[in-house]
Amino acid sequence: MKRLLITGAAGGLGRAMRPRLKGLAETLRLSDIAGLGRAEPHEEIVPCDLGDANAVHKLVEGCDGILHLGGISVEDKFSKILNANLLGLYNLYEAARAHEKPRVLFASSNHTVGFYRQDQHIDVTAPMRPDGLYGVSKCFGEALARLYFEKFGQETALVRIGSCMEKPKNHRMLSTWMSYDDFLSLIACVFRAPMLGCPIIWGISDNDSRWWDNAHAAYLGWRPRDNAERFRAELDAQLERPAPDAALSRYQGGQFTEDPIFPET
Ligand SMILES: NC(=O)c1ccc[n+]([C@@H]2O[C@H](COP(=O)([O-])OP(=O)(O)OC[C@H]3O[C@@H](n4cnc5c(N)ncnc54)[C@H](O)[C@@H]3O)[C@@H](O)[C@H]2O)c1
Repeated sequence: MKRLLITGAAGGLGRAMRPRLKGLAETLRLSDIAGLGRAEPHEEIVPCDLGDANAVHKLVEGCDGILHLGGISVEDKFSKILNANLLGLYNLYEAARAHEKPRVLFASSNHTVGFYRQDQHIDVTAPMRPDGLYGVSKCFGEALARLYFEKFGQETALVRIGSCMEKPKNHRMLSTWMSYDDFLSLIACVFRAPMLGCPIIWGISDNDSRWWDNAHAAYLGWRPRDNAERFRAELDAQLERPAPDAALSRYQGGQFTEDPIFPET
């Protein structure tokens, strides 16, 4: 790739992936509404609010891949989710359509299915069961991406990220964790695959206690190598196991299932 756009590059995942993605494209175009520091020689910085259609059109022009991490990443007021995750996504797909349909990796979420119980093992054919407005916005994003694929042939990997961080922070994450290395190899597979389509992919490492099955996406050749199990003893020593009827041990979405709908005022 000549130019890979990374939205949300100032966020937790963006900051972690930024140095790791050097080499996947000649130029990384980094974007966010938050500060991104100084550009390295292989980087360019283009601040942009995803809710601003004209700015998003300029942002996407000249890119041949988009790693879309930008947006609201937890439960929040609907107006904020509306701007970044719904309007922002529409702007991104319209811009992509106008500029040669660069392949997209959309950071979707396990919160599209948060109300499944942890003793249920599901694949991508399971109906969505979002656990909040944030989860609903990711369902919207997946549906929008699918529409642009069916109608215009726009390819997107819909990656339902579990918990992508240095290491799992609680017992639920022994199932949902994805290491940065595994995310990096997934990103490389998505952008290098000869044919992508519009698959849903569970963004998790090869965890012993996983709930989700990626067999349908084997054609991408992605082989996650990490396994959260190696952190179990450490977590057991540090944290009390949550009660069996607590949201954290009951639902796949964990604590998000108990978030309120935040009032606008
Ligand atoms: N980190 C995880 O484990 C995880 C799990 C599931 C899904 N995801 C998804 O992955 C993506 C990245 O996650 P993260 O943990 O880095 O989140 P984050 O909140 O740390 O980063 C998101 C970034 O998006 C930017 N942003 C917000 N509104 C914007 C707007 N209107 N215009 C432009 N930029 C805007 C923020 O400034 C922020 O830097 C998010 O879309 C999130 O929903 C992450």
